[in-house]
Amino acid sequence: SGYRVAVVGATGAVGTRMIQMLEETSLPIESVRLLASSRSAGKQLKFNGQTITVEETTPESFEEVDLALFSAGGGVSKQFVPEAVKRGAVVVDNTSAFRMDPKIPLVVPEVNPEAMENHQGIIANPNCSTIQMVVALEPIKKAFGLKQVVVTTFQAVSGAGQRALNELEEESQEVLNNEAVDPQILPAAGDKKHYQIAFNPLPQIDVFEDEGYTHEEWKMIHETKKIMLGEMNDSAIKVTATCVRVPVPVAHSEEVYFEVEDQNATADDIRRVLSEADGVVVQDDPEHQIYPQAVNAVGKKDVFVGRIRPDQENEGSFHMWNVSDNLLKGAAWNSVEIAEKLHEQGLLHL
Ligand code: A2P
Repeated sequence: SGYRVAVVGATGAVGTRMIQMLEETSLPIESVRLLASSRSAGKQLKFNGQTITVEETTPESFEEVDLALFSAGGGVSKQFVPEAVKRGAVVVDNTSAFRMDPKIPLVVPEVNPEAMENHQGIIANPNCSTIQMVVALEPIKKAFGLKQVVVTTFQAVSGAGQRALNELEEESQEVLNNEAVDPQILPAAGDKKHYQIAFNPLPQIDVFEDEGYTHEEWKMIHETKKIMLGEMNDSAIKVTATCVRVPVPVAHSEEVYFEVEDQNATADDIRRVLSEADGVVVQDDPEHQIYPQAVNAVGKKDVFVGRIRPDQENEGSFHMWNVSDNLLKGAAWNSVEIAEKLHEQGLLHL
């Protein structure tokens, strides 16, 4: 009568929100299995008032599972997603493990739901900062054409997981108490050096790659192309990104500069198109100091857009300020929304 759902990484920053989104979804759910590592096995979590014991993830965890939502890191997905698919589950994977595989759809339901039509058991959920940007850019692209995007992000610490969030809190206390800080995780847990995030923006998210770009920046560039154009190396839209981690617990902010094809487009036209777009809320009234703010976006599923204005030097170019809860639209909500769309399209078998 309903889906048997597994959440992998159920104890994490995203996983706990996945549970919450499953409580709110219209998807028919028969049962929920909560999976993590052996460290959290035995821990008890609530789903719709019911107590569920967290289990260690094993290949057998996926027997009699219809839908598996993964958010426990790329390594865990590489190991267990094939086990889940082999046992007949459809997987929505929130890690970067399969995002760039040309056979695997990378989906934001407001942008490219049709990409799921021929899925082979895995749907990849894009990177959080990419999702909130393309939700706002797609309606602009449809109405006016899109030539170029230059984005600078102000990304929340929860994007790096629960331990990073704890680190921000501890360091902030230490700084306020005039104590020494001892960074262990940020900017990237796997990198050699760690730096203070409290009161200190860090222009590094994930590890460095070629030409001085970080992997997060690489993801924003190539995932945007795959989602909006269908291919990661398509040059029909030029994209570049600078990703900055800021001492904010939840909700990413982005300054997006973009150039449209239609030289007659105005800021009012863009505001009108965005105010009619799915998943977007326009908050743009400079006269009354109205613009999106991270603190107001926490717990909401929408992407909030404001500060929409024409560039003063380049014709057909604009700026906007774009804010969303990175754990919801950037991760847990987008994943559950993908599952809802799969269900509606008959692509999730009962
Ligand atoms: P655990 O609580 O057992 O460590 P976050 O993104 O907040 O860091 O959360 C990561 C999530 O991934 C947690 O739920 C964590 O569970 C889970 N996880 C980490 N390593 C594994 C693993 N080897 N197998 C399954 N789940 C894992």
